[in-house]
Amino acid sequence: MKPYRGIVFDLYGTLYDVHSVAAVCEQAFPGKGMALSTLWRQKQLEYTWLRSLMDKYANFEVLTGDALGFACAALGLPLEEDMAIVLNDHYLRLAPHADAGAALHSLKDAGIPLGIISNGSHKSIAQVINNSGLGWAFDELISAEDVQVFKPHPKVYELCERRMGLPRDQILFVSANGWDASAASLFGFATCWVNRALGPFDVLGAAPTVVTEDLMSMADWMLENFDLAQAAPPPDDSAPAAD
Ligand code: LAC
Repeated sequence: MKPYRGIVFDLYGTLYDVHSVAAVCEQAFPGKGMALSTLWRQKQLEYTWLRSLMDKYANFEVLTGDALGFACAALGLPLEEDMAIVLNDHYLRLAPHADAGAALHSLKDAGIPLGIISNGSHKSIAQVINNSGLGWAFDELISAEDVQVFKPHPKVYELCERRMGLPRDQILFVSANGWDASAASLFGFATCWVNRALGPFDVLGAAPTVVTEDLMSMADWMLENFDLAQAAPPPDDSAPAAD
């Protein structure tokens, strides 16, 4: 029995390169582009976790702007309001990782239901996907906004079962973020950790089901482990014929 019947992807860092904003950061602050991009992302993640612990949810775009402000202040970079607007807008125009389109195509061609589960707001997710032209790939765009708390809270992962119409043990969860893959494994998903940096896995009491170095190898693994027999819904004889 090949057990998996659908895939949900994390968005930031997994399908999209969060450091594709480094180029515009570099234009704004020459010599500091990657340092700013790195601290910006780190603070963005911290703010999601801290606000979840404080029970003070705020929209992901708000947190992203707050994190940018902090990162610039910490690095001694003067952030004008106009520049903040430009940089925050680039977070809605992230570049997909080089193999994202091909990997999604091969999974989609096999009829595998695909979703995104992200801490991004509905607006952020939709804009990032549409701005990069990958909207065709996904059956479900699932946002933590619906439960007003961020991953790795289990309430966010729970949304996937309802939206994908599958129990957790039939969903493969794909993330390049080790903390996210850990929490998803503890929740009960099969998990793929995309370890592009060939780094160590977070020590949080869980192991991923599979580790790959990129999205294409993840797709190849999934195609070997997907339950093709159950991919399509059974024909419904009672349904009225389509015109
Ligand atoms: C996301 C971040 C956590 O897309 O990568 O949810």
